[in-house]
Amino acid sequence: MTANSIETKDKILINGLKPLNGQVRISGAKNAVLKQIAASILIPHPVILKDVPALQDVYRMIDILHALGAKCEFDEKQEILKINCSTLSSSYAPFELVSKLRASFVILGPILARCGNAKVSLPGGCQIGTRRIDLHEKGLKSLGAHLEITHGYVEAHVPEGGLVGKELHLDIPSNGATENLMMAAVLAKGLTIIENAAKDPEIEDLANFLNCCGAKITGAGSHRIEIEGVTLNDLHSCEYTTLPDRIEAGTFIIAVLATGGKAIIDNVIPKHLTALLSKLEEMGAVITPIGDKSLEISSNGRLKATEISTVWYPGFPTDLQPQMMALLTKTDGVSILKENIYEDRFSHVEELVRMGADIQVNNHIAILKGVDKLTGAPVTGSDLRATAGLIIAGLAADGISEVRGLNHLDRGYNSFADKLSSLGADIKRIND
Ligand code: EPU
Repeated sequence: MTANSIETKDKILINGLKPLNGQVRISGAKNAVLKQIAASILIPHPVILKDVPALQDVYRMIDILHALGAKCEFDEKQEILKINCSTLSSSYAPFELVSKLRASFVILGPILARCGNAKVSLPGGCQIGTRRIDLHEKGLKSLGAHLEITHGYVEAHVPEGGLVGKELHLDIPSNGATENLMMAAVLAKGLTIIENAAKDPEIEDLANFLNCCGAKITGAGSHRIEIEGVTLNDLHSCEYTTLPDRIEAGTFIIAVLATGGKAIIDNVIPKHLTALLSKLEEMGAVITPIGDKSLEISSNGRLKATEISTVWYPGFPTDLQPQMMALLTKTDGVSILKENIYEDRFSHVEELVRMGADIQVNNHIAILKGVDKLTGAPVTGSDLRATAGLIIAGLAADGISEVRGLNHLDRGYNSFADKLSSLGADIKRIND
């Protein structure tokens, strides 16, 4: 149990081996919307975000904005979040709030740019590996910020005259650092260039949201992002619809294949999932586009083993590695899965082995010998994607599985059990 998890005693019960069939709609992207909420700090007018999923991480981010003096109204049913940061009155984000979700650290750039100073807690522990912030720190200093890390907090202020645009080069294409720096640069004087920026669709979506509010950002979605600084007076209200969650879509696609089903996944942008889809086709999956934003998923029998290496976007996403591992446990032959982004994202391996999987781990490489069957068992997920992976394994296993760790699942999946149930899974969520 880490500081960034919300305790729940719920568990999910699955009676496996029921093929998933039907149609499911994917929600707005967690990793985009969280950054758009943070970016609203820059905007001294009301903004409206649409397609916002009711996730624990979204609620925690709203709590942080409230603590800063913003007004937020979340209509969960309509999935509309109204944010008004015209009333911002504080630049202090305490440990109790920031430690509940690591993504919240991206408030540092916008608070600093808007208020001229910021005191933001360091985010705290993480189950999947060290999550460093050196690139955030180095980049903000290059823009002229004074930064000190002391007693678990980053204390920062902007010198007289404000932040000044600069050419920045990231040692690695970190998502969080790209986002923090891009947001800080919106109100810097002159041109900021971020070289070796993360290219993920969520970065492009953040830039689109900021541009919709009057920022001047070009190149997001490529390795070179240019931000022409504007003034607070140039920023205005906007209504923006968040892009679909590619990781949720990938999770459902994998779940359909793991159960040998046939289903349509709606509200998906296939080009955001090229690495996954081409790998699945290589393994024998049948993926048929239906219009621009739906995919029909099925397979002709047992899938073949494969080799996968997680890399930065557009490579195979680390956030689908545990779900993919669940699928690979039952494929034909020997698969190799290399985790290159996080040093400790294999916590699900032991649990999968308890369900009958044959997996050997050597450092960051897992070798999987496909087995004929998995058997249901009580298992516990220790991070968000690991829990999703174990639920997929439960769907593909003979008998009953009990999956715990739903505090992690609730951070990032909207009504996961309900959506699976609507596809025909024999699944229910119960309170212990
Ligand atoms: N890193 C550094 N220095 C830095 C920043 C990052 O060395 O200053 C390293 C980290 O230690 C880590 C790697 O770079 O090993 C990835 O970090 P990145 O900054 O790209 O990740 P993030 O912004 O913290 C986002 C997603 C993660 C996703 C990663 C990689 C959000 C809220 N989180 O995290 O999503 O795994 O990018 O794609 O956007 C998830 O949704 O389950 C999740 C963990």
